Amino acid sequence: MSAPEQLPDHDHGLLRFLTCGSVDDGKSTLIGRLLFDTKTILVDTLSAIEKTSAKRGMSAVDLSLLTDGLQAEREQGITIDVAYRYFGTDRRTFIVADTPGHEQYTRNMVTGASTASLAVILIDARKGVLTQTRRHSYLVSLLGIRSVVVAVNKMDLVDWSQDRFDDIVAEYGEMAAAIGLTDVTAIPLSALLGENVVATSGHTPWYAGPTLLDHLETVEVANEAGARPLRMWVQSVVRPSLDFRGVAGLIAAGDVRPGQRVRVLPSGVETTVARVVTLDGDLALAVAGQSVTLTFTDEVDVSRGDLLCAADEPAGVADQFEADVVWMHEQPMLPGRPYLVKIGTRTVGASIGHPKYRVNVNTLEHLAANTLELNEIGVCNVSLDRPVPFDPYSELRDTGSFIVIDRLTNNTVGAGMLHFALRRSHNIHWQALTVDRAARAELKRHRPAVVWFTGLSGSGKSTIANLVEARLHAEGVHTYLLDGDNVRHGLNRDLGFTEADRVENIRRVAEVAALMADAGLVVLVSFISPFRAERRMARERVGDVQFVEVYVDTPLHVAEQRDPKGLYAKARRGELANFTGIDSPYEPPEHPEVHIDTVALAAADAATAVFDRLRADGVV
Ligand code: ADX
Repeated sequence: MSAPEQLPDHDHGLLRFLTCGSVDDGKSTLIGRLLFDTKTILVDTLSAIEKTSAKRGMSAVDLSLLTDGLQAEREQGITIDVAYRYFGTDRRTFIVADTPGHEQYTRNMVTGASTASLAVILIDARKGVLTQTRRHSYLVSLLGIRSVVVAVNKMDLVDWSQDRFDDIVAEYGEMAAAIGLTDVTAIPLSALLGENVVATSGHTPWYAGPTLLDHLETVEVANEAGARPLRMWVQSVVRPSLDFRGVAGLIAAGDVRPGQRVRVLPSGVETTVARVVTLDGDLALAVAGQSVTLTFTDEVDVSRGDLLCAADEPAGVADQFEADVVWMHEQPMLPGRPYLVKIGTRTVGASIGHPKYRVNVNTLEHLAANTLELNEIGVCNVSLDRPVPFDPYSELRDTGSFIVIDRLTNNTVGAGMLHFALRRSHNIHWQALTVDRAARAELKRHRPAVVWFTGLSGSGKSTIANLVEARLHAEGVHTYLLDGDNVRHGLNRDLGFTEADRVENIRRVAEVAALMADAGLVVLVSFISPFRAERRMARERVGDVQFVEVYVDTPLHVAEQRDPKGLYAKARRGELANFTGIDSPYEPPEHPEVHIDTVALAAADAATAVFDRLRADGVV
């Protein structure tokens, strides 16, 4: 039995499919039945199962034990990780992704479905179409799977009733049409008794269609990747010796041969393939699913994360998209927060806009949303800090899907499917300007800088920032002080104090600070700015302008004692929600340029410390 990864995708005898169903639909039993009746399981495994089944007092062999034994089924009897299984017949080989039915686990289903070309959706004949059935079908459709088999299971428990089957088929068909699933085959079966799974049932004379295995063996699934023009993400540049330089990767779509013209994206440079090299020697042709190393006839600049395309049918290149976003983390998506997005082998900085809507996957309604919580799906604009090559997901999954990664923890927190590039991403260009930052600095006789004060409310940020500005002003430095309270009266008056609003608050003020610094000013920013991720974003946005993070460090109880605006008292009385330090977090800086202990240092001395730092940095 070989591992799924080693099977070539281009083998037309291979079908990857996924099974989904609710907790008790009998999914494990069905997979077990397929493995068992196609003689995939080993005889000693089988006798062990027979013993266990007998011990549990079951008349028929409990085939769910087979799959349950192969993977760790959790205590509640809920499968939560995707398990891939491999089996085969004379006609075809199969890789089945078994994904959990529990409603918490959208993310596993997304994982399991990402490579499947067909889905088997189980329905318990006694229960009919359930909320979960709708959810799974919606996800299947969203993930681009076009072929669906509705396995109406436990038909023995409804006396093999044709009426019952027909009702379920009609109800399912209505929903399927609404979500764009057109290729649907329904099969009445009993996984437990093994009827209409591999062997034809004697109980369904009214059913003229195939058994499940017959169908899986013969169904034509669109070979999406093979029919597309060449797409290959560059995994690495290989240079074993001075006279050999190649690029290695997996062919995601199309085929490639020596002499073929290819275009490297995003650069757009064209070249010609010289050799298609593999461990088993050179090939005259390589196709989707194969890993190869290509060499070119000339020295082109290619690196990891580039996409090689057929020169006459290249992918698009853009930095702003509309996309479906599936959120996979307990901590909700925060619009505007800096994340990483990985598309193919390319990773870039990204932020996600406010959801245009989120989808209630049970009713398919579009709902208003400010964020996406765990397992929620919404449509959002995604903007990247650099252009990337892509195809719409509906055309090719491999170049149309991405994952979202948290920058601080490196966890995968979401996944997405690209719809299309936003037109503004092509049409807005940087205008080259004659007077630049250096020219402005020359005239002002000092360098620009951003001095970022962070700390709790009442820590003394504004007092210190104010003193620093006065001092700089006296020295003839052109300054501006952006203060949280003030900016919140104008530019940011639409924002409150939820996490999402604070992220947007800081994003905007970082943009303004960057513009002002570009204009040549020394900008002082005094905002609580409680989150590390956004302070880091501000630093990155400011780019190569001097960025001085000043941590105004005042213990909570001291700030609370001072309480200059009476807000802590209000928050303690429960009259003010999301107050920093009380019921909203503050993440102290780890490596601030200046750390001020306001308990030990008077405000004037603190201001001097900041001023000295600016002088040492050559700003003044
Ligand atoms: S930030 O967290 O988004 O950076 P910002 O610095 O703009 O906050 O605004 C903080 C100021 O708003 C505080 O100094 C305080 O005067 C006021 N404020 C009102 N409500 C809150 C709250 N829930 N949490 C923190 N500050 C609040």
